[in-house]
Amino acid sequence: MLLRDDAFDGKVCLVTGGGTGLGLEVSKRLLRHGAKAVVVASRSVEHHEEILAAGKEVGGVVDSVPLDVREPDRVDETFRAAAERHGGLDVLIANAAGNFVAPSMRLKPKAWRAVIDIALSGAFYTCQSAGRLMKEGGGGSIVTIGTTYAWTGMPGVVHSAAAKAGVLAMTRTLAVEWAPMNIRVNNVAPGPFHSDGAQKNLWPDDEFRRRIEAAIPLRRFARVEEVADAVLYLASDAAGYVTGECLVIDGGGWLGKGLGG
Ligand code: HXC
Ligand code: NAP
Repeated sequence: MLLRDDAFDGKVCLVTGGGTGLGLEVSKRLLRHGAKAVVVASRSVEHHEEILAAGKEVGGVVDSVPLDVREPDRVDETFRAAAERHGGLDVLIANAAGNFVAPSMRLKPKAWRAVIDIALSGAFYTCQSAGRLMKEGGGGSIVTIGTTYAWTGMPGVVHSAAAKAGVLAMTRTLAVEWAPMNIRVNNVAPGPFHSDGAQKNLWPDDEFRRRIEAAIPLRRFARVEEVADAVLYLASDAAGYVTGECLVIDGGGWLGKGLGG
């Protein structure tokens, strides 16, 4: 365990896409580390059942809210209402994203927009609404989720790569712009890890997955717990002097593209 048990004591935390995959793991850990409330926001509240059950188990407050991050007015209303219910907003994990593999030559405008609107614009709308509340509350911490193909590129995911590159530029920009308001903004860039969403949309067959693993110097995917550790560190006061950083958790994956990797 990287952090003190009480690392998020008294903090109100909001995780977009907090009911599945990485968001679920992060939400569970925020609860275990003493968060005053963990608000999980995504399109399908059915996805929030596991985190609601985890909240009951540890006696923590989990607030499940339906939200499509593509709708900026709804994002703003939802965030403000959550802050009113719980007494402010201290931490945002901008985790929601959408993805699928499609060759760029055949990518339809609607398909491009679906991913850009969720992964880039949605990340901005959520950061903006959270930033306004954090400014009112005297500060806060935001972690965005990227990936290494934001700078390496990857065939078949031009929409997601462009979105994640935008998220990284946005993270660094907001970090500098909002530092005077005591708001830190950082990015975690994982390589591949298992989630049902990624498996369904990115590596449905085992052979493809094995080929990706073989190209990673540590020869395996990340464990979701390892990625969540990085997210929690940056979100916590332990990283109180860190802002605008991009923490890569990829088993040496992108560096390994050099000679001998
Ligand atoms: C080609 C596709 C497609 C596919 C959708 N589209 N799926 N095109 N191949 N598999 C296109 C179609 O043109 C479609 O228009 C348009 O996208 C919109 O699709 P909808 O299903 O209507 O959109 P929506 O309901 O908004 O769903 C969003 C989604 C979906 C992004 C398409 O995949 C989703 O909900 N994803 C969330 C979960 C997820 O992706 N998790 C993985 C995250 S992993 P038409 O006209 O045909 O309807 C990740 C980083 C991995 O992000 C990094 C690894 C290193
Ligand atoms: P995931 O479980 O599919 O997570 C995506 C989450 O986003 C879901 O909980 C989904 O919930 C939510 N979401 C999607 N569209 C939304 C919308 N329009 N509005 C609100 N919420 C929405 O996949 P994951 O692998 O854990 O991904 C989590 C993050 O890690 C993403 O940012 C992803 O890009 C990043 N990442 C993943 C990998 C990987 O290998 N898995 C690698 C690098 C980076 P609903 O369906 O309920 O809306």
